Amino acid sequence: MTVHGEPANAGHRVLAPDDAEVEAYLEAALNAPPPDRSSEPGPAAGGLGSSAVDAPDTVVVLDFGSQFAQLIARRVREMHVYSELLPHDTPWAEIERRRPVAIVLSGGPNSVYDEAAPRPDPAVWSAGVPVLGICYGAHLMARELGGEVVPTTHREYGPATVTVTDPGGLFADLDDRQPVWMSHGDSITRLPEGFRATAETDSSPFAGLADPARRLYGIQFHPEVAHTPAGREVLRNFVIGIAGARPTWTPSNFIESTVAAIRARVDGHAQSTGTIGAVICALSGGVDSAVAAALVHRAVGDRLTCIYVDHGLMRKKESELLRATFDQYLGMRLVMVDARRRFVARLAGVEEPEEKRRIIGDEFIRVFEEEAGRLGRIDFLTQGTLYPDVIESTSPETKAAQKIKTHHNVGGLPADLRFQLIEPLRHLFKDEVRAVGLELGLPEAIVHRQPFPGPGLAIRIIGEVTAERLETLREADWIVIDEIKAAGLYRSLWQAFAILTPVRSVGVMGDGRTYANVVAIRAVTSEDGMTADWAKLPYEVLARISSRIVNEVPGVNRVVYDISSKPPATIEWE
Ligand code: XMP
Repeated sequence: MTVHGEPANAGHRVLAPDDAEVEAYLEAALNAPPPDRSSEPGPAAGGLGSSAVDAPDTVVVLDFGSQFAQLIARRVREMHVYSELLPHDTPWAEIERRRPVAIVLSGGPNSVYDEAAPRPDPAVWSAGVPVLGICYGAHLMARELGGEVVPTTHREYGPATVTVTDPGGLFADLDDRQPVWMSHGDSITRLPEGFRATAETDSSPFAGLADPARRLYGIQFHPEVAHTPAGREVLRNFVIGIAGARPTWTPSNFIESTVAAIRARVDGHAQSTGTIGAVICALSGGVDSAVAAALVHRAVGDRLTCIYVDHGLMRKKESELLRATFDQYLGMRLVMVDARRRFVARLAGVEEPEEKRRIIGDEFIRVFEEEAGRLGRIDFLTQGTLYPDVIESTSPETKAAQKIKTHHNVGGLPADLRFQLIEPLRHLFKDEVRAVGLELGLPEAIVHRQPFPGPGLAIRIIGEVTAERLETLREADWIVIDEIKAAGLYRSLWQAFAILTPVRSVGVMGDGRTYANVVAIRAVTSEDGMTADWAKLPYEVLARISSRIVNEVPGVNRVVYDISSKPPATIEWE
């Protein structure tokens, strides 16, 4: 069996957020070129010259393979300083183009002795930019600059206590003894010339090292993880205290500079081609496409047209919320395509999950092709690509569009049409997108919406999808969300929803015997959708959901709760 065109290997099903999926269909329909991001170093040096807002100070994080590398960048951004993650072997010229105010070397799984031990461009040490080496990064710093690092007899992994021996610098305003998280097999045994020890543990005399004259700092522990309670302070001492970065990476500054940059780009294109610079965007109902559209709208107004396909597989009231927000409240040009009949008709008699996905994707592309044909010339396509997608897209296989394109033969549009992509969120993490969305005035219901699959309720109806079954599931799902929100649990859950099973069971209602459908409830907690745990919902909440569904939804007489984690189960049932 395949999922999103890939073999379904247990537990490794690819997370394809609704926005990415629906955007990819529009991309396929328009036969858009793959994104060219080679000349885009980020908002710091990335052509924001026309903006009234200064480019943000940038902290470059060099990734040596640590599972926490992204977390370092996120921690830095939490203090309102822009941070970018780059591969460890990025040439100095590339790093310098970002005009970094500081550089962080992440940890990594290697030993500095390994044949293929990853190393940074040596210019990193001598450029005069403050450098913080974390764990493996600190070992590199010690060894490359003339110190000594040896493998330890026992790996230190887990909680430890460091004693600060040289206060100030990274440890300014912190207590002398700090609980920290360690994970290393090597240990520094001799410091390079010019360095001094700043912290120690029972097993390592150089848990912290510094050469303030050269602005080089190292720590053996991980400040970015929650298990190091003062970790944020250590990073702040480095980024703000030592490097002097200005905390200007805020939603409002981001909006101002991004809007100016989009406007300059679209205007420039319009002038040089003698067009109006028409932009389109597919709305899926998800937060990323909504925020991307709102940003572009602020920049180019009516030159943006949004397309929303109502495939009839959405949850109750979602399409209305979208219309109210984008058309009535934000005053955008919104083409709402009522394709409910078409989708249900094509899904008739189809039971196999992957066949449902294929049909829905195909129908999406057809609808988009028709709508794009009606719009006439289009110059730009807006996508809600996020920073983690950009980092991960080094492997071209990860792009959903790539996969869809490979088996879709696009017809109808002239082959020489070339679009440019506008990806206004490509520097943002998800929580930053939400903050920007709120700042733009988007409603909470959109900004904090839980992920929802592109194929919608179709993959939550086990077996054939019919208009009637959709109605049943929509009502049951509404009750789940309603009760979860009323209990104040909505935002603590990754997803909560109902599944309409094909199982029928016996029940009694009033004086009569019933033989009706079983609805399952799924609620999970998760960081990223790749793994998930079933949510320990309070019994009272489950009880209310159950009795309301059985009483209010015709054709359902039994409710069960799914207590499987992922892996081995997936979040969705199909
Ligand atoms: P699974 O079921 O694989 O889901 O554990 C992981 C996450 O992906 C979502 N999902 C999809 N999203 N199209 C999408 O856009 C799909 O076909 C699809 N299948 C699963 C799911 O809701 C969860 O967040």
